[in-house]
Amino acid sequence: MKIKFLRRNIFQRILGLPATSKPADPDCWQFSDGKFTIDLTKAPELKTSGGAIRLEGGDLSLRILVIHGDDGQYHAFHNRCTHMGHRRLDPVPGTGTIQCCSVNKSTYDLNGKNIYGPAPNPIKMYHTSVDGDQLTIPVD
Ligand code: FES
Repeated sequence: MKIKFLRRNIFQRILGLPATSKPADPDCWQFSDGKFTIDLTKAPELKTSGGAIRLEGGDLSLRILVIHGDDGQYHAFHNRCTHMGHRRLDPVPGTGTIQCCSVNKSTYDLNGKNIYGPAPNPIKMYHTSVDGDQLTIPVD
């Protein structure tokens, strides 16, 4: 597979600034009983393939990246590159990959497998399920 790199400038890479934002509507998701639930009607970022949001902060003990993949499915990843910098990840639209925001650009496929760069291990993934407009992601 030929690896495509997300277009980011060198300062964004050095500082580890991800392209993926937190959701514009902070009320689109909640975390309780070991699972994330996302109201898809309030998360337009996930409406089309290539879209993504990152969920983090507050009392959360982990941060996750949720993407609407090129395969039309939702995917959720532990948002922590397995390289020693532990930077965040972004989808690379149209490629079926996610990529570290750092200079070294470690890249993973949609199964979490590390396929490029110095990352030594796969990314942990979480099961996703959709019921109506609700996306559920258990992380326990
Ligand atoms: S932290 Fe991701 S490639 Fe280094």
